[in-house]
Parts: sequence; structure tokens; C-alpha cells
Amino acid sequence: MTNASLNPADLRYLAAAGGAAPSLHNSQPWFFRPTIDGRGIAVYTDRTRAVPLTDPDGRAMYISVGAVVFNLRVAAVRLGRDPLLTLLPHDADPLPAAVLDLSRFAQTSHPYGPDLYPAIAGRHSSRLPFANRDVPERIVGELIAAADAEGVVLAVLEEADARRVLNLTAEAERRTAADLARQAETREWLRLEEPAADGIPREALGPQDHDARVPVRAFTGHPPTPPASTQRFEALPQVATLTTHFDRPEDWLRAGQAMERAWLLATVHGLRVSVLHQAVEWPDTRANLRDPQTGPGHVQMVLRMGYGPPGAPTPRRPVTETLQPAAPGADTTTTDGAGAGTGPPVATTRR
Ligand SMILES: Cc1cc2nc3c(=O)[nH]c(=O)nc-3n(C[C@H](O)[C@H](O)[C@H](O)COP(=O)(O)O)c2cc1C
Repeated sequence: MTNASLNPADLRYLAAAGGAAPSLHNSQPWFFRPTIDGRGIAVYTDRTRAVPLTDPDGRAMYISVGAVVFNLRVAAVRLGRDPLLTLLPHDADPLPAAVLDLSRFAQTSHPYGPDLYPAIAGRHSSRLPFANRDVPERIVGELIAAADAEGVVLAVLEEADARRVLNLTAEAERRTAADLARQAETREWLRLEEPAADGIPREALGPQDHDARVPVRAFTGHPPTPPASTQRFEALPQVATLTTHFDRPEDWLRAGQAMERAWLLATVHGLRVSVLHQAVEWPDTRANLRDPQTGPGHVQMVLRMGYGPPGAPTPRRPVTETLQPAAPGADTTTTDGAGAGTGPPVATTRR
């Protein structure tokens, strides 16, 4: 046990690492506060940064915050702290999505296998074509184990299933293209002219697939405006899904942690990843994403993996904006608005 409070530099370090997480349209729907005892950090959803048409239930928001939580865990270990994580704690106001009690010393410096900390800054969405090269079985096994450690099923799909998921993604992309309100919402998060601290800059957008095999999201519309280049993508994209048993905010937070853990590990191995989320955004295509072999479950994310260019970095809001002072009454016995609102915290785990 250590009684040492986190100092301001520790808090900034944690908030910067947490804030490097991926999020839908780089919306960064989160903020941080130290816990009232000064020995932990809480992460909150920021609903002013919601993407309501694309993500009406806040599922993608919680996945993004789950990724933040995993980054916080990795950074906490770097600070020599052993994170005790509580998801959706109850009985306080305001309402955190997760609280990390960092009052104990870390027992081990690499609890997640290799050192994942450098990958927090090195991880980017790569929307560029990948090489026609399979991910080795050994690495696939490591990614599956990483997600499994977070209670989430990661499946790297065989050819027929990959094509089924890509077809569903293409169908969802067509629907999104025909939905003018959603198109307008996506455009609000594009930052094509001026530098900004959020949203997607021009450099991070990729080409369209010349052969239409990889249905990358057309952020600038159909037809793309300004026009997007086309390139030949890999012949058989390697596609992975992340699935949870249930479909509640705590499952979304777990899925986000699993996604980030697998994505950081992939980055350590030189693999590139991007997200194909379109089919998860429509209830019927989402239901059809389920693998008929693996039975019930809720697909939370579709990832494309491979070897290729790393993708461009995207900006983040400064820590001066995302890190707020401790709120009176905000401690580890608090309630998140999207949780049940009553009852015990969802889970407290030493990670
Ligand atoms: C829930 C979620 C959904 C996303 N959906 C897509 C998507 O459909 N297409 C895409 O290209 N990127 C998608 N992304 C990636 C984000 O656009 C990306 O994380 C964000 O722009 C920040 O960039 P970075 O990942 O390079 O840090 C998604 C990310 C999350 C967390």
C-alpha cells in the first residue's frame, strides 16, 4: 500500500495516455477527475460530444471510454501503481464510467505481456491498403488471449465469414450514404481545412478501394466531396470481430478495453488496424454480424488488420481541457447515468 497521492504531473500523464484512445469520429467523449482522496482517477463520458444519429444508445461512446480505461491501466503501471478498477460505480454525483484506485504499488511492470505503453502513442487507425500477407497464427492467438483476458471474444474470421461481414458492412455503408442526416452528422466531425483538437483531419482519411472489396467508410460522402482517390486494397481483408455475451454499458466498457488491449498488442507486433463500424450502426446488419457457429452474442466491433503504412496521427484535446478538478462527492461509490442507477458497482477488479 502507498499513501502517496497522485501529483499534478501524474494526473496529466494519466489523462494524456487515456485521451490518446480511439473514438467514433475522434469525438473524444470523455473527461477525467482525480478521486476525492487524491489517489485515483475517474473517467466520465462527455455527452456534449455524443454522435447521436450514428450512436443513439451511446454504445460507441462507452466503447471509446473503455479504450480510455485500458490506456489508463497501462499508464498507471508505468507510474508504479496497481490499478483497482471499478466500472460504473454507484452513489455519487457526478457519475463516472470508471474509477481507478491507484493507491497500491504495482506487483509487476508488464501485466499485459509486452510493454504496451509505447504503443499508446504509436497506435493509429490505418485506412490505407494492406499487403496480401496473413497475420501469423501465433499473433492471432495472442490477440484472442488479450481480448479473452478482458472477458470479450475476439474472432479472426475465415474467408467465408470475412466476406459475409464485409458484405454487411457494404450494405450498411450504402444505407448510411443514403441517410442525409447521418451524412451531415459525420461531416460535422471532419476537419478538412483548419487544424483542430478533435475530429478527423484530411491526412487521416484513406482512399476508396478500387475493387470495392474493402468498404471503408466514405467520410466525405457519396460521391466523395472533395473527390477521394482510389487504390487497390488487399485481396482478402483480414477481419476480426469483438463479441460480448450481453449488451449493457458495462459490456461496452469491457469491449472497449479488449479492443484497445488487442490494438496496442497488434501495434507492438507491427500490425495495422482500422475499424469498420458501419454494420454495427444498424440493428439488422448488426444482428446478422453474429457468427452462426458461435451462437448468441453481441458484436461490438469489426476490425480490419494487416501489414501496411501506419496511418496518420489524429489530434487530441489538451489535458488542460480534459482534466478537471476533483468534484466533491465523487469517489469510488458513484453512479453512471447509463448504468442501472441503483445497486452495487458493476465490478471491482485488480488489473
Ligand atoms: C466505436 C468506434 C467506431 C469507429 N468507427 C470507424 C469507422 O467506421 N471507420 C473508420 O475508418 N474509423 C472508425 N473508428 C476509428 C476512429 O475514427 C479513430 O479512432 C479516430 O479518428 C482517432 O484516430 P486514431 O484511431 O488514429 O487515433 C472508430 C473508432 C471507434 C472507437
